[in-house]
Amino acid sequence: MRVSVIGCGHLGAPHAAAMAELGHEVIGVELNPETCKILQTGRGAFHEKGLDELLDKHVHTGRLRFTTDLHEAAATADLHFIGVGTPLRSDGRGYDVGQVVGAVRSLAPLLTRPATIVGKSTVTVGTVARLQEIIREHAGSEGVDLVWNPEFLREGHAVEDSLYPDRIVAGLASPEAENAIREVYAPILARGDAELIVTDPATAEVLKSAANAYLSTKISYINAMAEVCEITGADVATVAHGIGIDPRIGHGGMRPGIGYGGGCLPKDVAAFTHRVGEIGATGAAALLNAVEHINHARLDAARDLVETAHGRPLDTATIAVLGASFKAGTSDVRNSPALRLAGLLHSSAARTIIHDPESVPAARRLHPEYTYADNIGTALRDADVVVLATEWPQYTRDADLPTAAARAVRRKVLVDVRTAVDIDAWAAAGWTVHQLGRPAQQSTA
Ligand SMILES: NC(=O)c1ccc[n+]([C@@H]2O[C@H](COP(=O)([O-])OP(=O)(O)OC[C@H]3O[C@@H](n4cnc5c(N)ncnc54)[C@H](O)[C@@H]3O)[C@@H](O)[C@H]2O)c1
Repeated sequence: MRVSVIGCGHLGAPHAAAMAELGHEVIGVELNPETCKILQTGRGAFHEKGLDELLDKHVHTGRLRFTTDLHEAAATADLHFIGVGTPLRSDGRGYDVGQVVGAVRSLAPLLTRPATIVGKSTVTVGTVARLQEIIREHAGSEGVDLVWNPEFLREGHAVEDSLYPDRIVAGLASPEAENAIREVYAPILARGDAELIVTDPATAEVLKSAANAYLSTKISYINAMAEVCEITGADVATVAHGIGIDPRIGHGGMRPGIGYGGGCLPKDVAAFTHRVGEIGATGAAALLNAVEHINHARLDAARDLVETAHGRPLDTATIAVLGASFKAGTSDVRNSPALRLAGLLHSSAARTIIHDPESVPAARRLHPEYTYADNIGTALRDADVVVLATEWPQYTRDADLPTAAARAVRRKVLVDVRTAVDIDAWAAAGWTVHQLGRPAQQSTA
């Protein structure tokens, strides 16, 4: 099929590459000329595991190209994915859907033959109905269908999740639209490992918001239990393991830490919380308000843990922060709890130096006032406390790191706010290890 992907950011670029890999002829439309220029060279404008390889492959086979020109996409493609951003409004009261409305409003009059518009961006319930109106009013042809096809990819696994999704949700209203969805995803559906859920647009909208809200609730739940463990002296890691054995609960999302972040969960929970409150779903609003409250509070708990670990006021400490991106596998620093914690420490400690294998350029653009190290050795040198803030494998799986790091620092004190390291290996190399919701592990060296 000839498809376009409008908006080639964290969702759109992997999706465009995946559509080319599935055999479609793809044209990616990206408004930002700098981003577009990078994509045209067959690279991503940010780090995402496996993305550069897939972009490079298909930009050079000619099956995938990028442009800033929407006319070219309208003229070429029969199906148009919309992957533009839906940031939180500046007052926090729901999404700013300007990019989505703008993209559909610009595209509709250019469509002079039947086509399918497939929205992948996350929107509040009611947005699809509004877009349908715009299409009815402005489309340049009869037979322009709108489908809402929310995306569930995980950053850090975006390519894999785009190629091998666990579900495809399609909110639609006509047999033609369903045929188009079945055709564009045919290679995935033929494998039989992804469920296709065909539903109405409102259900698709709510389904996506409900999924992100549930994930955030699970994360906040175990983080709330970490708070209980801190007060009672219990060990939250054992609690998480023990409760997760029950298949009704499960272990996914059960690792205690500094809370959720990134370009999706914080804004999606905030927008959904506002919306459910607005429509009078008071129970849902109360639950989600608590989820958000817990998430914010864990950052302060992490800062306090660093101070406890240091044993003195933080303004006497040199702190190495390992990790700035919101999770491992991506350079995305949007709403990153790691970078926020680094910010709290930056404003309290004598010296805070941040290392990240991929996201230092993005972090530096956002916070030029912080100090960054290009290599881990520089970050660790003379540190009084090392804070593991993002669970990159370089930090958590390198068996030599505890010993190598021990030689660089002033004091062997590790605060692992992701509950990610092999605590015994670090203790055996002489470190005292602190994790949220767990008793400190003293050095066993
Ligand atoms: N990032 C994720 O992991 C993820 C996962 C699921 C859903 N989503 C949803 O997908 C949407 C996009 O998120 P993202 O993280 O990719 O955002 P992003 O900011 O990384 O990307 C959006 C891109 O769209 C471009 N754009 C805006 N208007 C445009 C237009 N009219 N024409 C062409 N390009 C335009 C922007 O320049 C930007 O590059 C959001 O609604 C988000 O909630 C994201």
